[in-house]
Amino acid sequence: MPPYRKMISVPALDSAIGVFDSGVGGLTVLQALRRRLPQRDFFYLGDTARVPYGRKPPEMVEEFAKEIGDFLCGLGVKGLVVACNTASAVALPSLIERSPVPVWGVIEPGVEAAARATRTGIVGVIGTKGTIGSRAYQRRLEQRGLEAWAQACPMLVHVVEEGLAESAEAELLVSEYLRNRPAIDTLILGCTHYPLLRGVIQRAVGDAVRLVDSAEVTAEAVSAAFQPVNGDGRGAPVIQANGGRVIHFVTGDPLAFAHTAAVIGGVEGEIIPLPVTELASARAVTVP
Ligand code: DGL
Repeated sequence: MPPYRKMISVPALDSAIGVFDSGVGGLTVLQALRRRLPQRDFFYLGDTARVPYGRKPPEMVEEFAKEIGDFLCGLGVKGLVVACNTASAVALPSLIERSPVPVWGVIEPGVEAAARATRTGIVGVIGTKGTIGSRAYQRRLEQRGLEAWAQACPMLVHVVEEGLAESAEAELLVSEYLRNRPAIDTLILGCTHYPLLRGVIQRAVGDAVRLVDSAEVTAEAVSAAFQPVNGDGRGAPVIQANGGRVIHFVTGDPLAFAHTAAVIGGVEGEIIPLPVTELASARAVTVP
């Protein structure tokens, strides 16, 4: 007997790109993507019921990412963007293996941009415990012959989510986390939430250190593959009618998602609740 599949109806989006994160932080990546691909439709999934990923075992995060990847691919997306650094660090190979569409994580573009930016070859990276513990950034930096300094900054996600990005508390935590850094000249913001702390981080490290925002550089890499019009980067581009729509799925409370997202600049587009208990068994049915 086939497994029970719950049907949820979703407005049909043309040639959409699927973007996911553990929560609201990935909206920074979505915003960067939409600035570069304004005609493109997007599905965004925020796994707010299970956030934070940054403190969870890698195997668990990998399972979550696979479920979400399968769900978004089931919607017929043309590409998958893993906006979450922690999920990119631990789940990218399995997502690439099982997905029928191209998959982008945020780590490779971040490392690429840091390699371009550094003059001294000493690069710092900050992220969640999961990201830093995986050594995904450090390995790639070292493979390029760069010296990597890495620091987990677990409290910073909460600071941003509480709307305290410009507070004295944020200044204190950032300077504490960055206190023992060597003479880096480039620092990768290896977490979806850190672009919101850009001002505080820049003040802590000084203007001579270049900050690499993985949201921006990932959007740059994805948009290079997709034309601003609907052509999937291959063949003649086709103008997408009514393009630029976004549908957000959230596994937790949709109101809480919208509220927290205000810190990131708000949510534009529909929010559809997708309880995490139904994520693995749900099959979306698109309606015109
Ligand atoms: N999205 C996560 C990341 O970029 C940060 C939040 C979390 O820990 O889930 O690593």
